[in-house]
Amino acid sequence: MIKLKKCLDLQVVIILIWVLQSFVVTAMDMWWNLGVVGGAEVWRNQKVYILGAQPMCSQLKGLSLGQTKLCQMYHDHMPSIGRGAQLGIRECQYQFRFRRWNCTIIQGDSSVFGPVIEIASREASFTHAISAAGVVHAISRSCREGELASCGCSRALRPKDLDRDWIWGGCGDNIEYGYRFARAFVDVREREKNHPRHSAELSRMMMNLHNNEAGRRSVYNYAKVACKCHGVSGSCSLKTCWQQLPTFREIGDRLKERYDGAVESKFNKRGTKLVRKHKKYNKPTKEDLVYLDESPDYCVVNPKTGSLGTVGRECNKGSDGMDGCNLMCCGRGYNTFKRKLVERCNCRFVWCCQVKCKTCESIVDIHVCK
Ligand SMILES: *[C@@H]1O[C@H](CO)[C@@H](O)[C@H](O)[C@H]1NC(C)=O
Repeated sequence: MIKLKKCLDLQVVIILIWVLQSFVVTAMDMWWNLGVVGGAEVWRNQKVYILGAQPMCSQLKGLSLGQTKLCQMYHDHMPSIGRGAQLGIRECQYQFRFRRWNCTIIQGDSSVFGPVIEIASREASFTHAISAAGVVHAISRSCREGELASCGCSRALRPKDLDRDWIWGGCGDNIEYGYRFARAFVDVREREKNHPRHSAELSRMMMNLHNNEAGRRSVYNYAKVACKCHGVSGSCSLKTCWQQLPTFREIGDRLKERYDGAVESKFNKRGTKLVRKHKKYNKPTKEDLVYLDESPDYCVVNPKTGSLGTVGRECNKGSDGMDGCNLMCCGRGYNTFKRKLVERCNCRFVWCCQVKCKTCESIVDIHVCK
């Protein structure tokens, strides 16, 4: 009897080890590093960078093999990619500022957002989409600004609904090029994982590719037309128009909506593609975000998931939403402090040309999660 029990115990231990192993997070270097301090320093001194273009690419933190090759071929694109990553990270932090997971950068972590992002969660889907969108945005604009050797103004066709009297011909953001380059650069790291061994790796790869594409489309599909007036003393009898990127805030807002409506997915039976997990939800389109795993609750510090917890986070006492103290503090309650707020106030215009303000002090209550 005892023997049998020992035997069972051993089995349990083996299974436990196996389960734990599949949770062990592997270090995931991300090109997003190009958008954070340290990565950014490389771009600040572009001269050094261009002088030593080739060795520099292999020194950059977070590039995959294929990305290093693209860096060597298109080294003038790298500052834009750094800016794109930075755009994505900043927008992520703005969109999630009132949420339990708030897109914190983990200093010194090569995956930028830490192990949290290695879970195939909604949050991972958002970070992939927004950073891919950042690259499309930054490259498209750099083409227009004439910063890149291999592209220039957009050659997009004249929109059919543009007023016939207006001229189509200003130098527009080259979103077609930005989209193509971002697709090559961002996706290569997924595609070069040639034969993922486990179906978990394969489905994660497909998830990342899907969300990268969703991010790029959130820019590409929302190109706008901008125009400038000409004509006698601003009569606007003549207009010149061109293709213009949406603002990055609009892109962030849209992707945040996609995050809220992200579709839980799984492998189909044949293991060839991702399909929605629950039939009652709509099939994901190419613009939707998809995810595989439930998120951790992000309530408490958990080194295994990488969750930082919400102790010490500010919350909004009057709100029922995610920023409200109830949800943000996960029911643990909060402490209230007084904070002195110093503001400019009672400003008036003094002829000419000054604005004079007073400084006003007020005491406000702030609430902080226990
Ligand atoms: C984001 O969350 C972390 C950890 O909970 C916290 O240290 C940081 O101050 C938060 N950032 C903002 C902008 O609220």
